[in-house]
Amino acid sequence: MGNVIEVKNLKRNYETTVGILKREQKVVQALKGVSFNVKKGEIFGLLGPNGAGKTTTIKILTTLLAPSEGEAKVLGYKSFGEEKKLRHKINFIFGGERSLYWRLSARNNLSYFMDLYGIDDNVKENRINELLKLVGLEGKGDIKVEAYSKGMKQRLQIARGLINKPEILFLDEPTIGLDPAGARDLRDIIKKLSKEGTTILLTTHYMQEAEELCDRIGFINGGKLVALDTVSNLRKLSNKGSIIHCIVGDFNEALQMELLKIEGVNSINVKEKKGENNLYIETLKPHEIINKVTNILKDCQMKSFSIREVTLEDIYLKIVGEKNE
Ligand SMILES: Nc1ncnc2c1ncn2[C@@H]1O[C@H](COP(=O)(O)OP(=O)(O)O)[C@@H](O)[C@H]1O
Ligand SMILES: [Mg+2]
Repeated sequence: MGNVIEVKNLKRNYETTVGILKREQKVVQALKGVSFNVKKGEIFGLLGPNGAGKTTTIKILTTLLAPSEGEAKVLGYKSFGEEKKLRHKINFIFGGERSLYWRLSARNNLSYFMDLYGIDDNVKENRINELLKLVGLEGKGDIKVEAYSKGMKQRLQIARGLINKPEILFLDEPTIGLDPAGARDLRDIIKKLSKEGTTILLTTHYMQEAEELCDRIGFINGGKLVALDTVSNLRKLSNKGSIIHCIVGDFNEALQMELLKIEGVNSINVKEKKGENNLYIETLKPHEIINKVTNILKDCQMKSFSIREVTLEDIYLKIVGEKNE
């Protein structure tokens, strides 16, 4: 099937002024040349830590922001330059946003936003009922939004994002701020939409969420796409191997080099947490190398030691690192 999103060498800079007394211009390169395609009907996830450039990408694709360089085509239209032709075919929802009118009922909110899209009066009521049903707010349409729970508001946001039956729905961190049950409901709605044919591009910084929902995942960090693969390929990567997780007090690069020299060690990821060093040693044969590992770390004030299977979260951390978190 064809591509409904084509992003080529997308760059975006932000110019900001820093300092109070001495004001200086500073340029932030939020996107440093990102390229990827999204196929019709797919759920595509952009996964990355805070500041990676996820929201910037979505804003460009939804015509809210101009790129500094490169091109973004959505449904064949340039997101900047042909935005008028594009806008009525897509929609977007930014997690945690407050775009609803709290003093209006859910029904009146949807009706208001439908008017903005020029949706015909005689289809409005039916569509509002359909949407309320889809997001599980049947029978709650006449309640004022101010009386809604956070999860209900988030569902209404989804309904709001669907008023124009978008071919592509963009979701920026859809489950942010929701409790686990609310997040699960929302993921179910996203799956349902996808089954009904909507193409979905979502951003998240939760690997698990991306794994559960997405067909393919693009890993973004520091304004660059650092990896892109199908979830099934990523799962194959994670099926191989184990992680030896050690928490030590002292650690240095020389020790890391020594560990890397052990035959059977594929990689080491070091993460400092509260003055302790967490070492994640990836290997196919954990039990054969334990002795060598503990020997190298014998003077490092080892606090804990465990072996577990590689998860997709490990792969994520390996790909994007944790620089920005
Ligand atoms: N309006 C802005 N002005 C200046 N810098 C910005 C602005 N918006 C985002 N940035 C910077 O651009 C980078 C990418 O931000 P963003 O796209 O929001 O990342 P993400 O959504 O992945 O957290 C960050 O370094 C952020 O601080
Ligand atoms: Mg963001």
